[in-house]
Amino acid sequence: MINEIKNQTVGALLGTYPFAAVYFDGHHVDTKGRESVTVVDVFSDFVTAAGEDAVTTADELLEGLSEHVQQMLLFLADDLDTVRSLNLLPGTHKDGTPENFTNITINSGETICIVGPTGSGKSRLLADIEWVAQGDTPTGRTVLLNDQVPDRKWRFSPTHKLVAQLSQNMNFVMDLTVEEFLEMHAESRLADNVSDVVVRIIDQANALAGESFAPTTPITSLSGGQSRALMIADTAILSRSPIVLIDEIENAGIDRQKALELLLSEEKIVLMATHDPVLALMGGRRLIIANGGIEAVIETTEAERVILKELAVMDRRMTDLRNRLRRGERLE
Ligand SMILES: Nc1ncnc2c1ncn2[C@@H]1O[C@H](COP(=O)(O)OP(=O)(O)OP(=O)(O)O)[C@@H](O)[C@H]1O
Ligand SMILES: [Mg+2]
Repeated sequence: MINEIKNQTVGALLGTYPFAAVYFDGHHVDTKGRESVTVVDVFSDFVTAAGEDAVTTADELLEGLSEHVQQMLLFLADDLDTVRSLNLLPGTHKDGTPENFTNITINSGETICIVGPTGSGKSRLLADIEWVAQGDTPTGRTVLLNDQVPDRKWRFSPTHKLVAQLSQNMNFVMDLTVEEFLEMHAESRLADNVSDVVVRIIDQANALAGESFAPTTPITSLSGGQSRALMIADTAILSRSPIVLIDEIENAGIDRQKALELLLSEEKIVLMATHDPVLALMGGRRLIIANGGIEAVIETTEAERVILKELAVMDRRMTDLRNRLRRGERLE
């Protein structure tokens, strides 16, 4: 990648990768009027001009730019191919004994919950799916998409993942405000009505979180819950990835019933690990995990759906009480 970009002109680079502008701006490298100069020369001139004040070398800048472009390409990668089904083939428990099932098939449109004690292997199962494991993870499981060993492009694609790790994965959008970030993302997905989409995502995110943030808030100053809410709204409204993985949404401090209303989708495969009975009953089936393995697959019954309705009412009451306490109200 470094070799691919270093001898391009700045104009050509920005033509192919408009988001590279963020990198130049972030490093205060002025590219105005220098569109016909090569990237490597612009960096060399910049470092030379800084003289003794220079904090980086041209090589470091090139390396950083290359990394930025690659991360952005991965982030914006859009898999339009559909996944109609996902198969889980057994691996082993933590103690090495084989899992006791032959093949679990999940079709698009299904929501599957994953339950089990702390440390039993729920997140591990989600990670296997995210990696499209081919016997090469600690569980030895195999994941097939559309009954086939998947194409390599399905692996390593961050667009499959919901689990929001803004602080880890999003360093490359550091210098952006919420609005700039969403505009960039929306532009890469849609031709028109970008500004509508941006407003919708911010509104939805604020409906999930506690105190509102503004379009002009820098991404880095969002709180944990706010960034999680932003990622959820962003995923729900913009992502076209066919599989959504949700790990313990209940701990995000956001309105999880609302979050799920946003995320659950007719066309997607949704897998959700949870300790929360309200969420655990939302799927058509639930996978029971123990000792690292899938012990059982249980279908949600009609009677359980009735109980879910009661639980949802209790849950609303809890949320309401929590919000009132947060606002400093008395409950008498
Ligand atoms: N089948 C397995 N073989 C080997 N290691 C495993 C297996 N399943 C899980 N582990 C390991 O066990 C540890 C705990 O698993 P994991 O983090 O998935 O638990 P969890 O169910 O998500 O727990 P929590 O509810 O606390 O989030 C991890 O290090 C994971 O890699
Ligand atoms: Mg976990």
